[in-house]
Amino acid sequence: MAAALFLHFLSFVPVSAPLILALETSCDETAVAITRGGEVLASEISSQIALHQPYGGVVPELASRSHLPQVRPLIEAATAAAGVTLAEIDAFAATAGPGLASSLLIGNTVAKALALACDRPFLAINHLEGHLLSPFIGSPDGVIPCVALIVSGGHTLLVHCRGAGQYHLLGRTKDDAAGEAFDKTAKMLGLPYPGGPQIDRLARGGNPAAFDLPQGLRHSGDFSFSFSGLKTAVRYTLDALPNPLSAPMQADMCASIQAAIVGVLVSKTMAAAAHTGENVVAVSGGVSLNSGLRSSLAAAAASAGLDLRLAAPSLTTDNAAMIAFVAGIRLAAGHTSPLEGDVDPNLALVTA
Ligand code: KG4
Ligand code: ZN
Repeated sequence: MAAALFLHFLSFVPVSAPLILALETSCDETAVAITRGGEVLASEISSQIALHQPYGGVVPELASRSHLPQVRPLIEAATAAAGVTLAEIDAFAATAGPGLASSLLIGNTVAKALALACDRPFLAINHLEGHLLSPFIGSPDGVIPCVALIVSGGHTLLVHCRGAGQYHLLGRTKDDAAGEAFDKTAKMLGLPYPGGPQIDRLARGGNPAAFDLPQGLRHSGDFSFSFSGLKTAVRYTLDALPNPLSAPMQADMCASIQAAIVGVLVSKTMAAAAHTGENVVAVSGGVSLNSGLRSSLAAAAASAGLDLRLAAPSLTTDNAAMIAFVAGIRLAAGHTSPLEGDVDPNLALVTA
């Protein structure tokens, strides 16, 4: 008994903190996670990348059908990994949007059914808020005011976060997301989907100054992004080059594409930090895995004296731990969601 109490005091997280089970099925990853007081006890992810690869992008109908058979084994794996039973879960959560409607419905319906069956509250969570707060998962200081850059396959936005739930949108992309820019230009180079990691890998052996590619809206004086011009420039540049490209030329093209995307992301993020006066920069989403972006941000943050918080690599692409983390914060603030609520493919981050 005394030993158990001692261990209890050693732990950061009181065992009485609520256990949250969350599902994330907004796009092509089926994910289930269990958290307690912000600590991730289990995070299970089943990716559909191989399924969509032959099509060069996500096929919505295939995505939603493939979530369904994954959900039950992932819930079983998550409860086993966390060492808990469903009856012990205090609240169930799911991503309500933004995302693919037919995919969102799977996770939502399952979480609501579990909430109903176990007589526990349900929480509908915004996927973007999950990404935004993911750099703070496991952080001893919790969520702190920051400038947040969310860079994923579907989204690119800069947000001034004054605390959990207090967001002001600084700017977003006017067309493609940064991840889409990586994926679409990679496709032009004949690289498999998703192209971001492929470009990252090949760029390491290339010259970033080999091709002069546009950094859309870099000098616009606001926090908007545009990546469609980059796509067009890569198309025209490739049309004037031998097809297929030699390996060194392909590496140069990858390094130049990466430099164009990273250049504008870093420059606007630093400008946003200066504009808001925040000294913490939080970066999340699948593109935040990019090695060029990570090193450029680290260098820029160090020279500006900023505290850079990057989401842990396992929490950058879509995952349910970030959804459970937000749900835990909401629940602690006394919020729950009605079971009648619908999913919303265009759900916006509530901003001021
Ligand atoms: O966060 P995520 O799962 O997407 C959305 O929620 O929308 O991120 C997926 C995106 C893809 O576009 C993928 O190419 C990109 O993240 N990505 C990368 C890297 N790893 C993943 N982009 C550039 N470099 C990487 N290393
Ligand atoms: Zn995402």
